[in-house]
Amino acid sequence: ALISMRQLLDHAAEHGYGVPAFNVNNLEQMRAIMEAADKTNSPVIVQGSAGARKYAGAPFLRHLILAATEEFPHIPVVMHQDHGTSPAICQRSIQLGFSSVMMDGSLREDGKTPASYEYNLEVTKKAVEMAHACGVSVEGELGCLGSLETGEAGEEDGVGAEGKLSHDQLLTDPDEAADFVKQTQVDALAIAIGTSHGAYKFSRPPTGDILAIERIKAIHNRIPDTHLVMHGSSSVPQDWLAIINEFGGEIPETYGVPVEEIVEGIKYGVRKVNIDTDLRLASTGAIRRHLAQNTSNFDPRKYFAEATKAMTEICIARYESFGTAGNA
Ligand code: G3H
Ligand code: 13P
Ligand code: NA
Ligand code: ZN
Repeated sequence: ALISMRQLLDHAAEHGYGVPAFNVNNLEQMRAIMEAADKTNSPVIVQGSAGARKYAGAPFLRHLILAATEEFPHIPVVMHQDHGTSPAICQRSIQLGFSSVMMDGSLREDGKTPASYEYNLEVTKKAVEMAHACGVSVEGELGCLGSLETGEAGEEDGVGAEGKLSHDQLLTDPDEAADFVKQTQVDALAIAIGTSHGAYKFSRPPTGDILAIERIKAIHNRIPDTHLVMHGSSSVPQDWLAIINEFGGEIPETYGVPVEEIVEGIKYGVRKVNIDTDLRLASTGAIRRHLAQNTSNFDPRKYFAEATKAMTEICIARYESFGTAGNA
């Protein structure tokens, strides 16, 4: 059944678990997420970006998610719009039937230029007013995602700030977060704490304090009733990187956010954990390997099935580590 994000994250907060929010663009991702949820008895957040709507088409994306609720009626599903860059975009998703939207007012409508605090307040308030009237939840964002090491947002396509970000922009301020939540009434707040989108988060192996955990704690202390969201939470599995490169890929050395660090964040109010890149890496590795080892195969179902299997394993692992398992 389709539920709102608020309902799910309230339950997660009450029981102290986190929920991975997987990006979805196609049937294989959707199937992997649902089969993993079914096996582990986990509630689901699936999110569609503007890029996903462009790729699949809004009606296909919507029906893909609805198909999931039809085939797995016992699994609660939140249908979330990822990184909406204006209230108008959120409105369209609400009309499409999404049960939750992200109004990302940390950037201007181009999805690239860091916005002023006042702008962020204004567009987020507008989105909340509209969404709440329809029983739809809203995630806001305060601070800009980017590497504390380089000040760069990381992602080339999709949503991400262009140019260098200052230390202040890269870490959400706890007092500002409190004011923002009070004024906008968002249901969940994405915070900047040192992660960035995409596969190129860290150039060296993480040492165990890659996230600004102290900042998460400070924000959680200030707004204990707000559900915190961590974007850019892929772990960039080294085994899949190795498989991609073994079978013809060329991806340079790179590292993501260790699962243990995310689990630490979940102890301090992180409830929604956004993951896209890990599923992309797993499916690419599985397909490259299958095609290299089965050179006469031309049935796409064979290699897509490998991709689904690889993604399902990652989803199961995250549901188990984040404590989502058993809560459907
Ligand atoms: O926010 C970034 C997500 O990974 C979505 O990426 O815009 O390429 O679909 P996308
Ligand atoms: P990753 O690129 O780390 O998977 O992050 C995805 C994300 O934050 C989508 O909003
Ligand atoms: Na989102
Ligand atoms: Zn994101």
